[in-house]
Amino acid sequence: MKIGFFDSGLGGLTILKEAINKLNAKYIYVGDILNSPYGIKSKEEVKKYTFKNIKYLIDEGCKVIVIACNTATSICINDLRNMYKDICFIGTEPAIKPAISSSDHKKVLVMATSLTLKEEKLQNLINRLDAKNETVLLPMDKLVRFAEDGEKINYNLADKYIKEKFLNVNFEDFSSIVLGCTHFPLFREEFKKYIPKDIQIIDSASGVVNNMISHVNENKYLEENLDITIVLTKENKYFLSKACDILDIQNERINYQINNNL
Ligand code: DGL
Repeated sequence: MKIGFFDSGLGGLTILKEAINKLNAKYIYVGDILNSPYGIKSKEEVKKYTFKNIKYLIDEGCKVIVIACNTATSICINDLRNMYKDICFIGTEPAIKPAISSSDHKKVLVMATSLTLKEEKLQNLINRLDAKNETVLLPMDKLVRFAEDGEKINYNLADKYIKEKFLNVNFEDFSSIVLGCTHFPLFREEFKKYIPKDIQIIDSASGVVNNMISHVNENKYLEENLDITIVLTKENKYFLSKACDILDIQNERINYQINNNL
């Protein structure tokens, strides 16, 4: 039995890394780099791409699928659950709930793509937590490109961009920062340079993976050996080496495929 993972590119690997640390299983990861970035696209486009890639994972035999992308989760997960009743979808949402519950009456800074931030799903979450006055939203779309473009992840450009984005942020008002895009943990060290040490930096990886494991255990999907397949929607000669760095494994451990039909 395979566990599917899906993101627009490298970002979802920050969740897959947590998953492989906790569970040996057969993973199949689709990175839609042909259509990335998603965060500045229209809702309709993100739906079209996501549905196509998810159908592929289902055709490949995945019964548990992690949408390792906040943007695709916010736009598509309800539709996907209605379309495929026998598939278990695990979504990725900005971890605002744990951030608010430990906020100590201070505010929470939520960073994500523009599309995630303006979606109804996020607004509903904030309303449910009654946290409208405690949350400040900050789009950081360009970080996705700094990860995806070029031979290596561009930490220098990310550093300058983060510094610029934080110019008007008064950190005294905040108790935590939420990384609400799966690409953003790739720049954790750059964030840390500008965020005071007493402010927590929270991402969704452990919550998503714990959720995944609870469903996998129920369904007895456990494997003895780790098996990772990465499928890209377009060739990119640098992706695999960046993926290996993120996952901290050798490239021989990964079955690497390009699927031009996706
Ligand atoms: N990694 C994705 C997310 O969590 C999408 C980034 C993008 O393609 O813009 O939102």
